[in-house]
Amino acid sequence: MASAPRQFVRAASSDAATAAAKKLLIKHVTIIGGGLMGAGIAQVAAASGHTVVLVDQSDEILKKSTKGIEESLKRVTKKKFADNPEAGAEFVKKTLKNLTTSTDAASVVHSTDLVIEAIVENLSVKNELFKTLDKFAPEHTIFASNTSSLPITKMANATTRQDRFGGLHFFNPVPMMKLVEVIKTPMTSQKTFESLTDFSKAVGKSPVRCKDTPGFIVNRLLVPYMMEAVRLFERGDASKEDIDVAMKLGAGYPMGPFELLDYVGLDTSKYIIDGWHSLEPNNPLFAPSPLLNKLVEEKKLGKKTGEGFYKYK
Ligand code: NAI
Repeated sequence: MASAPRQFVRAASSDAATAAAKKLLIKHVTIIGGGLMGAGIAQVAAASGHTVVLVDQSDEILKKSTKGIEESLKRVTKKKFADNPEAGAEFVKKTLKNLTTSTDAASVVHSTDLVIEAIVENLSVKNELFKTLDKFAPEHTIFASNTSSLPITKMANATTRQDRFGGLHFFNPVPMMKLVEVIKTPMTSQKTFESLTDFSKAVGKSPVRCKDTPGFIVNRLLVPYMMEAVRLFERGDASKEDIDVAMKLGAGYPMGPFELLDYVGLDTSKYIIDGWHSLEPNNPLFAPSPLLNKLVEEKKLGKKTGEGFYKYK
């Protein structure tokens, strides 16, 4: 009996060692979606020496993405190479050399080690994309989604490579935010999980690991917290201003929940909570809010529309 735990530890560590030995070294990355998140992921991957192809639906969008990446790189470089502008210019040049663009995902995935999807937050559109790419990508290629709220398992099931499929959830703005959540479905192999974790470190991030559960770690805690703040306000227990002050001064949060909701976008928050509510209708943490629904209906979506819980000039 006494030796059983030790045996277990030995077995577990030798399993981990075997998986580590077989990890895939990711060098070539294809990123689908050149919007806010995809462009940021492309930037950090190219800046850390990976060969990157960024894919979107039109050359016009890709031109905008590339311009945004160039500007962001210059900002980063100004700080990072403050004393050595020549080395900074060389860094920008080298990074941009690692980056190409395409409007045809199927034709560029033939030699890629990792596909990261960062397109519109819609499960059937994502599934369609993965199903197509599954036919064109090599056997060894790992697929990952940057979704904030959709089940990774359902996307993996649209392909024949469920063991080489996981989540890589970056945060906005990608070049600044250090965190990546690495998501394992019940089918993700240990080799894939380790390879995705290593890739996150290789692009300079701090990975945390989690199972495929709604919201992963950060949003699972953050979204119900914001919804609870709305419910507190809806019941008339406190004003939204006082709730925001309370969480900033009492909990040390940089923003109050209503400021954060306005920053994230009320439509995005509603979309997430509605999706989770449909998955778990009896979970009170995921209950929709009449007030949030009303504001979204009135197109008061937060900072981006000039009004949400607060008004912006
Ligand atoms: P976005 O709207 O800025 O960019 C999406 C891009 O995907 C657009 O440029 C669009 O043209 C392109 N696209 C759509 N369908 C495509 C297809 N079939 N093939 C190629 N390109 C296609 O969206 P954003 O904010 O970058 O979000 C992307 C993903 O990242 C979503 O799944 C979102 O949930 C997730 N995410 C978003 C965060 C955020 O703060 N915005 C944070 C973390 C994850």
